[in-house]
Amino acid sequence: MNCEKNERMFQNGLEERRERIEELLKEYLPEATGPQQVIMEAMEYSMMAGGKRLRPMLMQEAYRLCGGRGKVIEPFMAAIEMIHTYSLVHDDLPAMDNDEYRRNRKTTHIVYGEDMGILAGDALLNYAFETACRAFDMEDADAGSVGKALRILAGKAGIYGMVGGQVVDVRSTGKQISGDTLDFIYRLKTGALIEASLMTGAVLAGAPQRQIDALESIAGKVGMAFQIRDDILDVESTPEVLGKPTHSDEKNQKTTYVTWKGMERAKEEAERLSREAIRELRELQPQDPFLEMLLESLIYRKK
Ligand code: IPE
Ligand code: IPE
Ligand code: MG
Ligand code: MG
Ligand code: MG
Repeated sequence: MNCEKNERMFQNGLEERRERIEELLKEYLPEATGPQQVIMEAMEYSMMAGGKRLRPMLMQEAYRLCGGRGKVIEPFMAAIEMIHTYSLVHDDLPAMDNDEYRRNRKTTHIVYGEDMGILAGDALLNYAFETACRAFDMEDADAGSVGKALRILAGKAGIYGMVGGQVVDVRSTGKQISGDTLDFIYRLKTGALIEASLMTGAVLAGAPQRQIDALESIAGKVGMAFQIRDDILDVESTPEVLGKPTHSDEKNQKTTYVTWKGMERAKEEAERLSREAIRELRELQPQDPFLEMLLESLIYRKK
């Protein structure tokens, strides 16, 4: 009974947060106007196609957990979702995973052409930083913290973060790779933006370095587990449920946790990493039951 009530409260909390994030994204996206209007339309098309909005949600939760109560977090929440969406738009391009569906609709390059797909990704990446910089103008902004958060965001998105992971992912296609290389790819291509989410939330709330480090460690494990679950769903789900093609990894001859260790071991590893992350989260003060339930829900997520 109590369990059911908790689950209902969690689902309501999730929906409430998701809706608020959608509103924020609309608020922060550029108006479609001027000779370059088509690129604003392509940005909006990819951004407003749905999606779990996990990264801004994690960022907001870390901000609150660390005592943040202001609005300085909002431009950063929009920015992380822009960077994540750009990574998806580029990931789907013919030169990369060559996928035609994403978030239940045709991919951006299918609708707007490959040229505009590339440019929409570039535009989202750059606009993410224009947006995050707006945090300097907020009433509750501490310039030092905003600068530090920007530095983390830039680093985790770049060659030592998401881009670096995608590089090795693409270069490893069709090849036998070691477990260490697979870990490297997951830690960077997926883990880095999740680390950025929890870390910038903490930084903007003025958290001490040891708390930022603890959240980085938690996020690293969540990121690994999240990518392993993504690999599992690529095999076990359907395009209708997932909103993107299944068997994309097989098509692209990717080594994944599932091909490397087998389905059962992949499931065990995703669960082990998630439980470890939750255990580390419980060591932090104060407790955040919503964040705990969110991490729990990711273990067996269906999409
Ligand atoms: C997909 O991310 C790409 C990975 C890093 C596995 P999400 O599963 O968070 O995609 P959306 O945002 O919900 O569409
Ligand atoms: C991509 O991993 C992660 C990114 C950094 C975009 P995948 O290629 O497995 O992501 P999906 O399955 O297309 O969402
Ligand atoms: Mg990919
Ligand atoms: Mg892909
Ligand atoms: Mg995938």
